[in-house]
Amino acid sequence: PVLVVDFGAQYAQLIARRVREANIYSEVVPNSMSASEILAKNPKALILSGGPSSVYADGAPKLDPALLEAGIPVLGLCYGFQAIAQALGGKVAPTGTREYGATLLTEIQGDSVLLAGQDLHQNVWMSHGDSVHEAPDGFDVIAVSAGSPVAAFENRERRIFGVQWHPEVKHSERGQEILENFLYRGAGIKPEWTMSNVIDEQVELIRNQIGEDGTAICALSGGVDSAVAAALVQRAIGDRLTCVYVNHGLMRLRESEEIERAFSGSTGGAKLVVVDAEERFLTALAGVTDPEQKRKIIGREFIRVFEQAQEDILREQGVVDGGEARRKAFLVQGTLYPDVVESGGGDGTSNIKSHHNVGGLPDDLTFELVEPLRQLFKDEVRAVGSQLGLPDEIVWRQPFPGPGLGIRIIGEVTKDRLDTLRAADAIAREELTLAGLDRDIWQCPVVLLADVRSVGVQGDHRTYGHPIVLRPVTSDDAMTADWAKVPYDVLSKISTRITNEVDDINRVTLDVTSKPPGTIEWE
Ligand code: XMP
Repeated sequence: PVLVVDFGAQYAQLIARRVREANIYSEVVPNSMSASEILAKNPKALILSGGPSSVYADGAPKLDPALLEAGIPVLGLCYGFQAIAQALGGKVAPTGTREYGATLLTEIQGDSVLLAGQDLHQNVWMSHGDSVHEAPDGFDVIAVSAGSPVAAFENRERRIFGVQWHPEVKHSERGQEILENFLYRGAGIKPEWTMSNVIDEQVELIRNQIGEDGTAICALSGGVDSAVAAALVQRAIGDRLTCVYVNHGLMRLRESEEIERAFSGSTGGAKLVVVDAEERFLTALAGVTDPEQKRKIIGREFIRVFEQAQEDILREQGVVDGGEARRKAFLVQGTLYPDVVESGGGDGTSNIKSHHNVGGLPDDLTFELVEPLRQLFKDEVRAVGSQLGLPDEIVWRQPFPGPGLGIRIIGEVTKDRLDTLRAADAIAREELTLAGLDRDIWQCPVVLLADVRSVGVQGDHRTYGHPIVLRPVTSDDAMTADWAKVPYDVLSKISTRITNEVDDINRVTLDVTSKPPGTIEWE
């Protein structure tokens, strides 16, 4: 693989993903991994990521020079670039002017390996307070910007390259070409990796993990992630997999029936068990208003229901004592990389919210997790799903969070409030679908501000009802998002219908916040 060494960047996985977009397999490793461990993975090339620190700050993650001396091609980005400069005797110092955001280059060497075909007039995305003032001996300076006397360098012979900016982000206009120049020309790697390789590799890994006689259950949510995870595991272990769909009472209108219908048969014939656990979840959530607490409760209850389901399945198979068999039991989850990073699972990243299937898991979990999609982003998962032959109806389903409407009611979750929100949500979804916007928007959470009231007038009467928030967003991978510019007439239709048709709602508002600073869901 091409290994991305993570120096605490928010975008380390994004780099790996761009490499995979260039049809070369890539994974992220933490910088705490020793050079010998990294080299033992036989990387074809290394990419050193950016990071929040200054290279000469106390406790800044260090670059082991052994990584530069192994004869493996190396590309440093931002912090990684400065770390190379420092390790090889260049000079790094604070920039007089910090460069944040879109920046213009002032000089560029279009005949270099790394910047071949690039021209001066392009925005590159910078975010740094230090810069490289002198390149190490033997390195050519191949780009300059106002705040970076050395904005990029290369040493063709040693195949070591670096740029101050972030070619992995879409705001760097021609960033992907730079990564490809490094991979194809600098490192001489052929673009041979495809989504079918992912399938074969994952099926192999799953077989090894679950073994010859292990059984697994898959937590099916109705979304694309768990469906793809289930299909992969089904390929690996056949009918030793049982899918379990839990109706926690926090689903949208008629959603459970739709999921049951869509999934019987489409996960490659895996068995499907449906558990109705509405009572259980609503009881556990009674009186709770704190978002993190809600998430933890929902995560825990899911696991308790899966444990019960697994015991039932074993009993049906004639295994009476669940104990020993349980230890061999595996729980398949469709966890994606963004779930992991937002739950604080990256190396040195902070906890934004506990996704129910990662940070919301109980401490006394007895299942061993099988998470074949943990390194991937949603659109990669969709590609795997299509390749596996899942129907479009599932592959293109908009994301819906595992904790469901439980995190879209701001305040306590009750049956009445859920019914109100379900009615409003159904109208919004129906109108967006009618307007043909389903593929244009990533998803549109509909949120009930259950503890807020405002005064309205309906049919000559004063009302004192609750507001609904529409949160349509566009996104590539849910890591960042923008509010979707849904046409006014569609918004107007949704607003009129919700206030007319849903009791207790007398106001509809639109959330016009990007992510960051907002997140997509309100809780
Ligand atoms: P946020 O709100 O973090 O959401 O910007 C990013 C994406 O993740 C979904 N989401 C979840 N999905 N379990 C899930 O399966 C969760 O706990 C969870 N929380 C948020 C959200 O709908 C959006 O697509």
